[in-house]
Amino acid sequence: MTPQTPEAEQLPWNRPSLGEEEITEVIDTLRSGWLTHGPKATRFESAVRDELGVQDAFAVSSCTAALHLALLAAGIGAGDDVITPSLTFCAAPNALRQVGARPVFADVEPATYNLCPEQAEAAITSATKAIVVMHYAGHPCDLVAFRDLADRYGLVLIEDAAHALLARRDGLRAGSVGDLATFSFYANKVITTGEGGMLIGRRSLVDRARLLGRHGIDAPVWQRRRSADYEVTVPGLKYVMSDLAAAVGVRQWSKLAAFTARRAQIAAAYTSALAGLPGLATPQVLPGVEHGWFLYAVFIDPEQAPLTRDQMADRLHTEYKIATSQHFRPVHTLQVYAGSADRPLPVTETAAARQLSLPCYPAMTDQQVERVITAVHELWGKRS
Ligand SMILES: Cc1ncc(COP(=O)(O)O)c(C=O)c1O
Repeated sequence: MTPQTPEAEQLPWNRPSLGEEEITEVIDTLRSGWLTHGPKATRFESAVRDELGVQDAFAVSSCTAALHLALLAAGIGAGDDVITPSLTFCAAPNALRQVGARPVFADVEPATYNLCPEQAEAAITSATKAIVVMHYAGHPCDLVAFRDLADRYGLVLIEDAAHALLARRDGLRAGSVGDLATFSFYANKVITTGEGGMLIGRRSLVDRARLLGRHGIDAPVWQRRRSADYEVTVPGLKYVMSDLAAAVGVRQWSKLAAFTARRAQIAAAYTSALAGLPGLATPQVLPGVEHGWFLYAVFIDPEQAPLTRDQMADRLHTEYKIATSQHFRPVHTLQVYAGSADRPLPVTETAAARQLSLPCYPAMTDQQVERVITAVHELWGKRS
């Protein structure tokens, strides 16, 4: 075995790509004297709305805020059941609990690790009000099937598209099919504003969310003649994105296609080098899919691989200074959700025990991609 030389630098699991354009835009905002939600946030919203072809967009402080507003705007609350995957980040289930609704966890598909339409349909009861899908790793879920399911049962469809900023399936853009959809611009996402998110979708719902996201105040601050010239029509929250964050966002958004293309290139290099290693499954991309590649997720079968997922992560870290990540601890296994799964979730549990996310981001050099490939080959006992 030939671990990396001692002087090899730590390769992080993720690093944002920020350039002079973002810095210049932030300085411009600082000089403008307008720091809160204003012209830059509006520009960011227009760019996202126009490219996605949706009716409206609202730039907010995080994807979690967008999910919370989505549920409030859609009138989801106490006594409502909402079907959602457990193989996800806790944001959507937490938002559901915050509004008094009950997350009902349904299993994912073994090919894509997205919520399975048949499992979701089997979980529908008279208490079901909505479905929150999540596009795992950037591979869109079956958008056509979920739109059809929501329409047949009269349910609200919300897309948690945190991983799928630029992804398509069957010609449909992830985020454009739900009644509402949310994006994340958290520090590790495909584009970032440090913290930030976007709520997009049907105009009436986004309008309601916009009101709820600025305290329930009926007119935004930059449209008021006098500072007290407003009314509070609903008890709202404060979730708007600042123009400082939006300044970064507008510049990052213009780089999204290039970032995604580089991620796809790295993913292709990994797949061609790693497919065929015993017990290591590379990500599947279904026909008709353009993947967003937020994650490059491999799955380690402990019966067939020379080491377990945890051993692989530990050895990549200690012997090769390569950081990895795991997505996710299933939500139903988190302390506050103990006992909340009312049906078996075998695919979710197996995936979570085997999954490992390799570094895959535009700031990686070809040499760093090779370094990861060589390290994995060596762990499998293959000489390069
Ligand atoms: C699927 C998913 N949804 C929502 C979020 C929450 O995003 P944010 O940190 O912008 O609230 C994350 C964060 O990683 C996520 O992975």
